[in-house]
Amino acid sequence: MTETRDALIDAARDAASRAYAPYSGFHVGAALLLKNGDVVTGANVENASYGLTLCAETAAVAKIANEGWISELAEVAIVGGRPDGDALTGSDPVNPCGRCRQILNEAAERSKIDILVHCASGDGSAVQTYKLSELLPAAFGPKDLGLID
Ligand code: THU
Repeated sequence: MTETRDALIDAARDAASRAYAPYSGFHVGAALLLKNGDVVTGANVENASYGLTLCAETAAVAKIANEGWISELAEVAIVGGRPDGDALTGSDPVNPCGRCRQILNEAAERSKIDILVHCASGDGSAVQTYKLSELLPAAFGPKDLGLID
């Protein structure tokens, strides 16, 4: 549903405004739609060590896991770009990094949904939607450890 998609992208965009990204200057927001319709967001949190940076998706999944909602994930939107005033720039959709795909897969397997991942550009001109199984084919997850049927 485009309506759901666009609302989720708006929530991700809002989250990106709260990114802590003084090193890259690249602000990313992620919005997680839960099965009950609630939306939980996260933004990237960088670190002076660079390598310890937390991506937006990781921050958002940590929030739902800490609330006991790891099995409630239904859909995801990601937006990223360089800020220009209140807006984000960039015309290419931002795709989740490899680590984030794996982290999203943990929640998606628990939720038993091949979640849609909407990847949006900073300027809003481009959106590419994937199933998580396209972004992370033949994933290793909790099912491989016998934790899920
Ligand atoms: N970033 C995310 O937040 N999510 C991704 O999936 C890709 C990259 C962040 C990490 C870093 O703070 C900035 O984007 C530039 O790489």
